[in-house]
Amino acid sequence: MELQTTLVSVSDLEALVMAALGKCGLSEADARTTTDVLVSTDAFGVFTHGTKALRGYVRRLRGGGLKADARPEIASEGPAWAIVDGHSAVGMVTSVFAMNAAITKAKATGMAYVGVRNSCHFGAAGYYALMAAKAGMIGMAMANDIPSMAVPGARQPVLGTNPFAYAVPAGQEDPIFLDIASSAVAGGKVRIYQALNQKVPDTWLVDQEGLPTTDPWLYPQSASLMPFAGHKGYGIAMMIETLAGVLSGAAARWGVKSWIDDDPSWATQHGAAFLVIDVGQITPIQLFRERVDAMIREIRATPKAKGAERVYLPGEMEWQRRREARTKGIALPADVVDSLRGVAEDLGLTAAWLGDRT
Ligand SMILES: NC(=O)c1ccc[n+]([C@@H]2O[C@H](COP(=O)([O-])OP(=O)(O)OC[C@H]3O[C@@H](n4cnc5c(N)ncnc54)[C@H](O)[C@@H]3O)[C@@H](O)[C@H]2O)c1
Repeated sequence: MELQTTLVSVSDLEALVMAALGKCGLSEADARTTTDVLVSTDAFGVFTHGTKALRGYVRRLRGGGLKADARPEIASEGPAWAIVDGHSAVGMVTSVFAMNAAITKAKATGMAYVGVRNSCHFGAAGYYALMAAKAGMIGMAMANDIPSMAVPGARQPVLGTNPFAYAVPAGQEDPIFLDIASSAVAGGKVRIYQALNQKVPDTWLVDQEGLPTTDPWLYPQSASLMPFAGHKGYGIAMMIETLAGVLSGAAARWGVKSWIDDDPSWATQHGAAFLVIDVGQITPIQLFRERVDAMIREIRATPKAKGAERVYLPGEMEWQRRREARTKGIALPADVVDSLRGVAEDLGLTAAWLGDRT
């Protein structure tokens, strides 16, 4: 059983998001940046972190916790690093600014770290990592969030589901591109199981005793997400908390406020981190691209497991979905459409396709 979907063109979806952000006072440029991050994420099929989140951002923009006219700025820097203060601008605006700063610094020095403080939820990490790959560089993006993930031995949330993405430029192939939570799944996937009224796998959640549960309705009040692969996801989440929350000077752990549930007048104080390696300064870029292409093709040609149709590269499913989205439109799940309908109602906007559920 799956959620119903509504087919919408990329341009119609962009138009609605642009109109909503314009009504909230964002400049044309900031609205365009935010729209591109959110709609690209939907086009990749990552519906938990695309335009579904817009309603939460609109609520905070209207409540004052996010500032439509804030400008992220470099607060301190060295040749190969910078700290960006987001001043509570929309998380996508600050994150794109910070990744652009990391790309510029990596061009000058070979590699760069940019930490971010005073940001908000940045959505899917993958968009920012791909900015570096488009510039012929290896990119990494990560962020912290309010704790909702237990760790081995704990019975309550200890860390956020701290997302991590990397992207590697290829030659004729699409960039390799992994974008994951450090929890077994992103929390939004549990909410989908709630909407479908289905049990979750017993590797996703622990209850208040720290024991596995399959009841999606316990989350988030009475259950925590599990890290992916136990201590491994936990260890990665700690690295992210350190680079995105501590080194950057952002809030860490419970210092981060919920962009969904907390008072919309509060700044959530999320942190983020962006790392870039300029490949061409280390090895000839053309040779690197050819070697990445060869590696991709070799892995794709690996003998398949019994019953498996194919072996995918990280990001390959997303590239396929995006190509389809651009030609046929995006099949938005019902929970995303409901959320966007809410945005339209809140802001007095209309879009014919919002009513056309198939
Ligand atoms: N901003 C935040 O606070 C926050 C927190 C958590 C997650 N997120 C976002 O949530 C999204 C979903 O996270 P998730 O952990 O549920 O993702 P997921 O478990 O669906 O994994 C997706 C990734 O795994 C790759 N993948 C999947 N199957 C594959 C296969 N068979 N072979 C090779 N690669 C494969 C995909 O290409 C993709 O890169 C991400 O975009 C993440 O950034 C954001």
